[in-house]
Amino acid sequence: MASISLSAVPTTSLSSRPPLFSKTSSTYCFKVSCKSSMDDHSENNPKLILPMQNVDRRNMLLGLGSLYGAANLTNIGSALAYPITSPDNISNCVPAEDGFIPGDAVRGNACCPPTTQTTAVPYVLPKFTKLRVRPAADRLSEEYIAKYQLAIKRMKELPDEDPRSWKQQGKIHCAYCNGAYSQYMNGHPELKIQVHNNSLFFPFHRWYLYFYERILGSLIDDPTFGLPYWNWDNPKGMLLPDMFEAPYPNPDPTKPPNPKFNPLFDPYRNCAHLPPAIVDLDTSSAAGDKSCAHQQISENLSAMYTQMIGTTTALPDAFFGTNYDPDPSKILAGRIESGVHTAVHIWVGNPRMPNNEDLGNFYSAGYDPAFYVHHSNVDRMWQIWNELDFRNVNPCNDDWLNASFVFYDENQRLVRVYNKDCVDINKMGYTYEPSRLTWLQGRPIRRVKASNIAANSFGVVKKVEEIEFPVKLDQAVKVLVKRPATKRNEDDKMKTSEMLFLEGIKYNGEQFFKFDVLVNDVDDGIETTPVSSEFVGTFAQVPHSLGGNMVMTSGAAFGLTQLLEDLEAENDEYVLVTLVPRAGAEDATISKINIQLVPLAN
Ligand code: C2O
Repeated sequence: MASISLSAVPTTSLSSRPPLFSKTSSTYCFKVSCKSSMDDHSENNPKLILPMQNVDRRNMLLGLGSLYGAANLTNIGSALAYPITSPDNISNCVPAEDGFIPGDAVRGNACCPPTTQTTAVPYVLPKFTKLRVRPAADRLSEEYIAKYQLAIKRMKELPDEDPRSWKQQGKIHCAYCNGAYSQYMNGHPELKIQVHNNSLFFPFHRWYLYFYERILGSLIDDPTFGLPYWNWDNPKGMLLPDMFEAPYPNPDPTKPPNPKFNPLFDPYRNCAHLPPAIVDLDTSSAAGDKSCAHQQISENLSAMYTQMIGTTTALPDAFFGTNYDPDPSKILAGRIESGVHTAVHIWVGNPRMPNNEDLGNFYSAGYDPAFYVHHSNVDRMWQIWNELDFRNVNPCNDDWLNASFVFYDENQRLVRVYNKDCVDINKMGYTYEPSRLTWLQGRPIRRVKASNIAANSFGVVKKVEEIEFPVKLDQAVKVLVKRPATKRNEDDKMKTSEMLFLEGIKYNGEQFFKFDVLVNDVDDGIETTPVSSEFVGTFAQVPHSLGGNMVMTSGAAFGLTQLLEDLEAENDEYVLVTLVPRAGAEDATISKINIQLVPLAN
């Protein structure tokens, strides 16, 4: 092996590798450590303060006899023996290159961390006496805001080479996203590590924020400091928290306060989207704004409902995405990641910058303090999803559990952390201040009265088997997809879930890319928004770098069971699927569309 090889990657098992991604796998993970807590999702859980009657009762009742649920339904649960491992020696880090055009990067492509230490020591979660509570950003006291601003100010005052500095923290995101780290895997000696569009997304960002929060706490001598979360899933939090743009005392006391002295300020934000603009959680149009506020709020709540419940309940692969793989056509990106998460990035980034810096591009996102409160809420969604239904379990295949990253901690020690140590936030020493989950009431309603929509399109719309793949996504794609079974009863639905798979989606990863997925829709998405049951979801991608043409491949999966009930299409033999391109789809293609039954354990 070359010097970039990693000790944790035995080559012997590479050839006997089973497929990572098998929808008909009967291998489940029944590990106790992988179950979500039975008591946590109940009505008595103080963390969920809305009554649960708004959630489909079946979600609560299904599989009560199977304490450990159906972990990781479509990943094979066996060890593949080469978990994604960021380098043993960080001097193997190389300048981020993918797509970088010299001179076009406002933030630069030198994303590697300082090499004051090069070999990471295994991180042990420290003991603590009091949980850090992450508060909702829109409810902070003046005092808390001042404390947070002071912490960021001190971070910004650290010398650039200090691994705790604002600049180094910002670089971390670029390094893990723009090709700075590689590992040996499956005969690919330089597989670039990518923490987006796969199941590394949630754990990587959880650890990233964990150290960021501890660094901020140590800079103000407050080990209980909790990083605020931007509560964009709640109508009260659907605008950029005021503190990010608030005036701040001028260092020259004879001059008036000015936002640009505010440590939370970032010059690269979309000024059309500062408060009181309401965030668009569906990025209906990348540049423009939507009609009225109440309509935007309902669309946001429905997008949340669909991504947290409607298409992901009991389907870990739909929620988290699947394992990173050298063959990108096997990878699925998670629903929250390619949904509301992307939308907030795009909404905040400045369209006047060459690459939508800062939040609007992965390479630069970590330089805006708003990135961390955005991701604090993304991380909170993981926690809430686990609590919503006991079948909402985390991935538990060995590759996922043993995937690891390196970070500098608050004491400037280089440490290695594992996914398996980040599945319980209380063990990590933090929790979230509760906030109303208004979107539990956001279940979409069908637009059109059920009238055999699929059957009526026979002869007009082609069946999936009559289409030649890959299909171009430069215009709306309409296709009839056969269901594996019809008239499924409650018993069937307890055993399997019906899922729509879109595989091998190829697109230009250097621009904002989005298409919407509709089922049994009759107007090609012209009026269909997330408030309609016909709107299954979206596949939206934050650009990776800068303007060139970097082909990326990923996939998406959506649970259809609840949606087909809402559409009264359960007896239909076919489903009419429409893919509507919204942005950056000129060169995009898709190589496979189908519906399969995914077994649930019971
Ligand atoms: Cu690493 Cu929101 O992205």
